[in-house]
Parts: sequence; C-alpha cells; structure tokens
Amino acid sequence: MHRKVTKAVFPVAGLGTRFLPATKSVPKEIMTLVDKPLIQYAIDEARAAGIEDFIFVTSRGKSALEDYFDVAPDLEAALGASGKTALLDILRSTNMESGTIAYLRQHKALGLGHAVSCASKMIGDEPFAVILPDDVIAAERPCLQQMVEAYQETGGAMVATMQVAPEKTSSYGVLDVAKEDGPIVSVKGMVEKPAAGTAPSNLAVIGRYILTPQILANLDTVTRGAGGEIQLTDAIAAEIEAGRDVFGYRFEGHRYDCGSKAGFLQATVAFALARDDLRDEFAEFLAETHAARHTAP
Ligand code: G1P
Repeated sequence: MHRKVTKAVFPVAGLGTRFLPATKSVPKEIMTLVDKPLIQYAIDEARAAGIEDFIFVTSRGKSALEDYFDVAPDLEAALGASGKTALLDILRSTNMESGTIAYLRQHKALGLGHAVSCASKMIGDEPFAVILPDDVIAAERPCLQQMVEAYQETGGAMVATMQVAPEKTSSYGVLDVAKEDGPIVSVKGMVEKPAAGTAPSNLAVIGRYILTPQILANLDTVTRGAGGEIQLTDAIAAEIEAGRDVFGYRFEGHRYDCGSKAGFLQATVAFALARDDLRDEFAEFLAETHAARHTAP
C-alpha cells in the first residue's frame, strides 16, 4: 500500500483572459456550468477521492473564491426562515470547514510548475493531488478517484491522460509511451507543448495529477521551459530521467476543456441535458434552434 493522498492543490491564479470581459471582475473558476461554479466540480471530485486538505494557489483579484467557500449566515438564515430546505442543503454543501482550506498567493505568473511549488511547504513530505479546474471531467466514478485507486497499486507519479487529435498535441503536455497495460501507461518521457509534428504520441496530459514530494524538489531546479514558464511537465519528466516511475492513467469519462469557449459551451449543453429538471425543455429548444439554422435563407 502506498501512502494515502489527502491533500490537493488547485492552481487558480490565472487571469482567465480568454473569457474577458466576464473575467474582469469574476474569477474564471466561479463561472458556472448550469448553476455550479467550475471550482465546485473540482472540489466535489477531490472529496470523492478522499481529499481532506484543499490548497488554493490564487492571485490578486481572486478573493471572490474565498467568499464562495465561506459560510453565508444571512443567506442561510433567510432560506431557513422561509423553509427552503432543499436550497439550504445545496448552499451548505459548498461550505468548507475552517482549517481544511488554505489560500496562498502566487506573486508572479511564472507558470503552472511555479504555482504548484508555491504550495510546497503546506504539502510537506507526502504524495498529493493537483486538479486543474479548467478540465471538467464527467464520469460515473470521478476521475481523481479512479487515479487514487490505481495509484494504490502503482505508486510513483501519475497524470491523467487521453488521446487527442494529432493537430492538438501542441496545446498539451504529451506522453512518450513505454508500455500500456489496460488504463495504465508507463511513461518514458514527457514534453510540454511539443512543436507541431514532433509529439512523441497522441496521449495528452489532462489536468489531474498525483505527485510525489520529489517533484516539488525538482520544481526548484527545473529551468524555464515552454512559453518561458516553469512547467510542471518538466518536473515530472525529471523523475523519469532520475529512474523513478511515472504513469499515465487513461481515465473513463468525458473531459471538457472549460478553459476554451467552445469547451465551456459544450460542457454547459451536456450538463444541462443531464439534468432531470432541465432536459426536456432544453432538448426541445436545441432541436428547434438547430432546425431553424438549417432552414434559414
Ligand atoms: C496545462 C499543462 C499541460 C496539460 C494541460 C491540460 O496546460 O501545462 O501539460 O496538458 O494543462 O489541460 P495549459 O492548458 O495550462 O496551457
């Protein structure tokens, strides 16, 4: 048995410029799919995987996130007084117990690897998870839970992975595959955002990681990589070079790239259609809209 993973880091310092003007005053992670902020999906997934300590790496302008996870006594009292117990339950499910959630600021936008290394002292000497809230994964068994279970067998470091179209590989970290055994992929190299035509495979890194403290140490020494940033991928690749195990995990589920407008819209439609209270009316609307587009002059 490998040590239990109980801490997760949520890098949420990005400016979200792709969603301007919305992100001028609202952190990207608070943007909602139907009625739940992106960050809540990430938290729910982490909880399902047994995470107990939640570490947010934030930046200036992200304080709405802290308010979101705080208790809202006035709102709770008002809902309680009017007997709206279902809404009260929903509201309470978003509260985080004091002491289980920590926020620290990344003072300079030096990249994902740097953001994770900011949490180094809080993680200490144990394996930990990283969740990128932009990657929303709809799955029967939440993705991180699938990985935590696999990690109990493998140990080492593990990244979620899925196949992407060859022309998309330059947007991702990409795995150099040694061997595949069911969903578990042994990795012999990793490249962040390879130039077109140079990717070692079509297996892209998706934003769920189980990492070792050694990777935090690697982050202190890796040089700036793709885009001039300190890349998490490079610190994981350094593990392979040091002869330690790194695995990809081909998760079951559908991943939505909510860092892009198209992905965000797709997730919105899919999540709305998955809701009993919205499905029928929304499906009818979609069908009508689709038909109208095809008959327009
Ligand atoms: C980050 C990682 C990349 C990974 C991707 C998944 O890139 O650096 O390795 O494939 O997330 O979403 P970003 O999308 O922040 O550029």
